[in-house]
Amino acid sequence: MSYLQWADTFSVKVKEIDDQHKTLISMLNTLHDAHIAQKGRDVQKEIVGSMVNYAKTHFETEEKYMQKSNFSGFHSHKIEHDQFTLKALDLNRRVNEVGFVFTIEILEFLKEWLQNHILGTDMKYSSHLINYGLC
Ligand code: FEO
Repeated sequence: MSYLQWADTFSVKVKEIDDQHKTLISMLNTLHDAHIAQKGRDVQKEIVGSMVNYAKTHFETEEKYMQKSNFSGFHSHKIEHDQFTLKALDLNRRVNEVGFVFTIEILEFLKEWLQNHILGTDMKYSSHLINYGLC
């Protein structure tokens, strides 16, 4: 059984964005399953590479919608995105240069991101985007 199952409480009510968030949860589950099987190092390279790609694609999507709709929380939201991107790039560099990082560091980072950003920061634009009629 997966570490985390998608639930309606994760939904920002915008399908394109929910689908991207599901990708992040899938990454978290893949890494968690590998960690439990003591094979975390085997998937680290793939996961941190996916995190870098996710950051580019997903943040572009959210930022485009927030800017189009003049969302007042855009700038503080983007700061958090930039912090994720820096961390993903740092993990990617370390995994590729050193060969591995502690899997628990990546897991804890993704769990905290899910809890604080997706369930916290992202939820703040949900009703705004729906009311604006962009989605
Ligand atoms: Fe879904 Fe603001 O990242």
